Amino acid sequence: MSQIENSISSIDLTDKSVLLRVDFNVPLKGSELLDDERLIRALPTINFIAENAKSLKIISHLGRPEETGLVQDKFSLKPVAKKLAELLGKEVNLVNSLKELKSLKNISMLENIRFYKGEKQNEDKLSKALAETADVFVMDAFGTAHRKQASTFGVTKFVKEACVGLLVEEELKALEKIIDSPEKPLLGIIGGSKISTKMKVLESLTRHVDHLIIGGALANTCLKALGKNIGKSLYEEDFIELAKTIIKNKKILLPSYVVVTKGRDANLEEKHIDDVEDDDIIFDIGQSSIEDFSQYINSAKTIIWNGPMGYFEEERFAKGTAGIALKISESTGYSIIGGGETLASFSNLNMMDCVDYASTAGGAFLEYIELGTLPCIEVIKNKNMGT
Ligand code: 3PG
Repeated sequence: MSQIENSISSIDLTDKSVLLRVDFNVPLKGSELLDDERLIRALPTINFIAENAKSLKIISHLGRPEETGLVQDKFSLKPVAKKLAELLGKEVNLVNSLKELKSLKNISMLENIRFYKGEKQNEDKLSKALAETADVFVMDAFGTAHRKQASTFGVTKFVKEACVGLLVEEELKALEKIIDSPEKPLLGIIGGSKISTKMKVLESLTRHVDHLIIGGALANTCLKALGKNIGKSLYEEDFIELAKTIIKNKKILLPSYVVVTKGRDANLEEKHIDDVEDDDIIFDIGQSSIEDFSQYINSAKTIIWNGPMGYFEEERFAKGTAGIALKISESTGYSIIGGGETLASFSNLNMMDCVDYASTAGGAFLEYIELGTLPCIEVIKNKNMGT
């Protein structure tokens, strides 16, 4: 959506209060943020509003708590508000009620919106109450723009003015480039653990791309469907039949070399897939497969990547993901990555610079590839067009 009428710069924010929906659904370990990329990427919008508007009210969800109306410590945004205040060098008041959110000046943040009844079901009562806290609604939660919920979707109907934030604009610009008119050849790379969550995107990617590399445990299911012995590796039995259909497509490239171990504390070995033994567990793609795939990476003009190539959480199994990232950094094609796990793996391995664009979205990234739009973006577009 590059149309100016939906962007934040099209609205005069002077003396107005702004309700900003961000996606600060970040990984936490106790009260420590394991990754603050989503906060950093929201800073331009936050700073823009803080400089131009009367007050800023931030909303986000974190995890999937019960809608009890009560703060559940495990899902509290307290550590997030603290980190945001540090990044901004300004005070961020964390509040527990819409009444406080409405009345506070400067920068405030509402506790996890998923504590509130009606959020998930997009109930009008909550949407309306949210809309009444401010004059303008800014949707900048690209990572949650596929969820039709009260704070992402419903609120737009009741608020006076609505627009998208700078992050959403940036994300759409990058994604439109690869979906609407990608320079060919277009290479897809898809990994991660579950074929069940990637089924639709696998289908739509095979339509779009010239080649599709499959790695991660997703590849295990495909290799099993090919009749290969994958030993004791993780795979999804229920999706073997679907995998059989997918692998018939000539665009699909599977790893011929894999990194295996016989147990968590045992040594690693790179093996040809035909040499995998019954007690082997595949945890990564092998170096020889990285070399095999590099010819496709080198010749691609556009690369789209979702999901790690192995169990990257353990450093010794992160070499496949890092190796592919390195090949991409050496290639001349325009590259874009997306997906919660992918972003976390890139950020943890300090590989953000290897690609041209890193999307902050997980499910929304996949849904955008599949449908070419997202409901929470459409609803703003339609409101501004008067439809
Ligand atoms: C994400 O991390 O993908 C988004 O924040 C959406 O979270 P959800 O899948 O819990 O709706």
